Amino acid sequence: MPPEHAFAAWRARVEAALARALPSPDTAPQRLHAAMRHGVLNGGKRMRPLLAYATGTAFGANEDALDTAAVAVELIHCYSLVHDDLPAMDDDALRRGQPTVHVAFDEATAILAGDALQSLAFEVLADAPLPAERGVAMLAELARAAGMAGMCGGQALDIDATGNAAAIDIDALQRLHALKTGALLCCAVRLGALAAGADAAGRAALDRYADALGLAFQIRDDLLDIEGDAATLGKTAGKDAAQDKATFPALIGAEASRKRLAELSVTMRDALAELRANTDALAALGRMVVERDR
Ligand code: IPE
Ligand code: IPE
Ligand code: MG
Ligand code: MG
Ligand code: MG
Repeated sequence: MPPEHAFAAWRARVEAALARALPSPDTAPQRLHAAMRHGVLNGGKRMRPLLAYATGTAFGANEDALDTAAVAVELIHCYSLVHDDLPAMDDDALRRGQPTVHVAFDEATAILAGDALQSLAFEVLADAPLPAERGVAMLAELARAAGMAGMCGGQALDIDATGNAAAIDIDALQRLHALKTGALLCCAVRLGALAAGADAAGRAALDRYADALGLAFQIRDDLLDIEGDAATLGKTAGKDAAQDKATFPALIGAEASRKRLAELSVTMRDALAELRANTDALAALGRMVVERDR
């Protein structure tokens, strides 16, 4: 199956699995449940689920075994977006073409919806139909990627740098991006590899691919903030400069940022070439990350 067909099928799988995992908007507390659904079932690209399916199936896992990994990592990602958009953080009103959760509901509900999405991610993964040892390894991986040494740590560095973006150097910015965005993308790949029981050599090459992809993803996000428009992006453009955010184009310029993306594409290709597996879908996802316009 060509990658594009696989992506449509995997997106449909994860959409259905997310809708099943989320609480009903008809049961109490209705407002919290509705906010959780608003934060998740609203047209995300589902990049992290696609990475989990692409990695897992390349190493022989069946899709049923990957659904829980795909759902868990997307729930953490959606929670991170709900909190990222809060007034105390990036203060954004538009996400995925719709009002952000705190705008559509209220701030307290958005905080709680994010918290509950995070808990649900771990609950879903704990219930995964996998051998216990594999399941525990996956839980630990997701916890690390979401926490202080991953997404939350990166968000803290991002907030620290906001308003004083010129003070950060390129190495520190790269670390910030690797944590706030790279950690969860890398986690998606690792969950797929763990679910499939990939060997250590395979996992090491996958990490090199995923590290490059994670950084590329955020550099592209930074570029889109200056080059994109809200109608395509589904989020307000031009916010990073307005808030003096530490971004690649702010620090090294758009041209050098694009050059860095091209270098990261080569790193991804080299890493995939080391794998003894069909890496067509992973290669296509790597291209999608650097070429995307939303
Ligand atoms: C946006 O992530 C936040 C970043 C980590 C840059 P995505 O671009 O994956 O957002 P959705 O899930 O498609 O909305
Ligand atoms: C967010 O980075 C990364 C997260 C952990 C959510 P951004 O703040 O650049 O993401 P967008 O541009 O709001 O989607
Ligand atoms: Mg942010
Ligand atoms: Mg933001
Ligand atoms: Mg951004």
